[in-house]
Parts: sequence; structure tokens; C-alpha cells
Amino acid sequence: MPNTSATAAPIVRLQQVTKSYRLGTVDVPALRGIDLTIQPGEFTVIAGPSGSGKTTLLNLVGCVDIASAGVVEIAGEDTAKLSERELTQLRLRALGFIFQSFNLVSVLDAFQNIEFPLLLQGKSTRAERAQRVNALLERVGLARFAHHRPNELSGGQRQRVAIARALVTQPRIVLADEPTANLDSATGGAIIDLMKELNTQQGTTFIFSTHDPKVMSHAGRLVELVDGKIAGIRVLHGDLPIDPGAHGDPSAHGAVAAQAV
Ligand SMILES: Nc1ncnc2c1ncn2[C@@H]1O[C@H](COP(=O)(O)OP(=O)(O)OP(=O)(O)O)[C@@H](O)[C@H]1O
Ligand SMILES: [Mg+2]
Repeated sequence: MPNTSATAAPIVRLQQVTKSYRLGTVDVPALRGIDLTIQPGEFTVIAGPSGSGKTTLLNLVGCVDIASAGVVEIAGEDTAKLSERELTQLRLRALGFIFQSFNLVSVLDAFQNIEFPLLLQGKSTRAERAQRVNALLERVGLARFAHHRPNELSGGQRQRVAIARALVTQPRIVLADEPTANLDSATGGAIIDLMKELNTQQGTTFIFSTHDPKVMSHAGRLVELVDGKIAGIRVLHGDLPIDPGAHGDPSAHGAVAAQAV
């Protein structure tokens, strides 16, 4: 079972986080005071309407963007205190990111895209990399497409390459922005099963954004964003919603708001 006990050090801690984007002369507020604590091994789903700030929140946790204000702590590190080089190291060491737009390298084939983070880490032999990449290609159902470049793959196949690339380094935290958005329900289900397996067997922390009710039903916690703020947090176990109020202090689960969404 994943360790979600209140005594574990949080793997993600956001405190009064705000993010505004500058558009010409105006500031567009995307996140407006987020408090969120995630324990190692949690399976957290971020839901909310288009424009509510889901991608922005994942980008801050994934250290690919910087908060305008507030504290962003990842794996015990205060990201504001890290240099660009240290942030890159943290990303490579601890984080796997499945972007909404996939961000695959167009001149590399599927195998090479998935292998890329392992090359950056520089810790594995060629044989070890091939073994891991091939196992993941198999798991995401793309063994036959190893030598296709992104423009020779469908949207759903590209998404699966991006998923395999995020998992290949066996990161402690996997962030996924709408990971099943382009997949048919059978493929989406297989991907969620793979993630659940990593979550329960290896204690990998997952943070997803989604509109997909099937993905939401797998959440340990469902965080609803509205207009850049947390409108509510639901604690779930499997498919059964549990009223956090009936189970003691919701902050034991890192919740900041216990109302149902
Ligand atoms: N680079 C940017 N420059 C200016 N504004 C931005 C930028 N990125 C996002 N925004 C704005 O920030 C807000 C939050 O955007 P975000 O992409 O985080 O939403 P989202 O919840 O991921 O939406 P979706 O479900 O459509 O992916 C929106 O109002 C958006 O227009
Ligand atoms: Mg988004």
C-alpha cells in the first residue's frame, strides 16, 4: 500500500502559491493562493473547467515554470532556492512529466524519445536502456511502432510515447496533464491500470489533471480548481467517495478544504 500517513514528509508542498502571466500590459491571474500538500504515494487528480489553472499548477510542481509568489517545495527542496542547474537535476532525478501537448522530439523515433531522459541521466548502459525502453513500449502497446517518428504516429500513439518517456526513469513523482484525453477507452483504461500498478507497487506519487470521470474514479484525492483557486477536495478510496469530515482531520491527508465538490 502507498504510504499516505500524516507523519511522512510531504513530497509536494504548495503554500499560498500564486501565478500570473503578463499579457502586454495586463497581468492574467492563473493561480490565486493555492495551499496543497501531497504525501508520497498519493494518487491525486486535479479537475476543473478549461482555464481554471490545472496546467499552470502542474507546471509549477514540475519545475518547468516559476510561481509569482508563495512556496513550492518538491521532494523537500524549496524550489525558489535552487539554481537553474539544480532545478534541472531535481526534474531529472524525481519527476516525470506528461505534457498536454506531449512535447516529443520530432527528429527522434518513439524508442529514442523514450530513451532520452535515461541518456540525460547518464547512469545506464545501452543494454539497460534498451531493456527498459522495450518493456515500456510493450506496456503502452507500441512495440511495433518503436521506429516511427512522432509525425508518423496518431495523437493517441504520441500520447503513449509521452507516457512511456515520463515513466522510464522510474521517478518518484509523475505529473500528467490530461493523460488519457486522446485515447480510446480501452487504451486509456490500460494506461490507468499501469499507473495504478506503479502507484501501489512502487509507491510512485501521481498527480493528474483530467476531465475524464474514469480517471477521477481512480483518485485517492480529487482536487477541484475553479478560477485559479481550490474550490474543494474530495478524499476517495477506489470508487467510493468518503466524506473527509467523517474521518478525522482532513489536513491529515493534506487537504486544506474539506467540502465536497
Ligand atoms: N502563457 C500564458 N500567457 C498568458 N496567459 C496564460 C498562459 N498560460 C495560461 N494562461 C492563462 O491562465 C489561465 C489558466 O490556464 P491553464 O492552462 O492553467 O488552464 P487549464 O485548467 O489547464 O485549462 P485546460 O483545461 O483548457 O487545459 C487561463 O486563463 C489562461 O488563459
Ligand atoms: Mg490545461
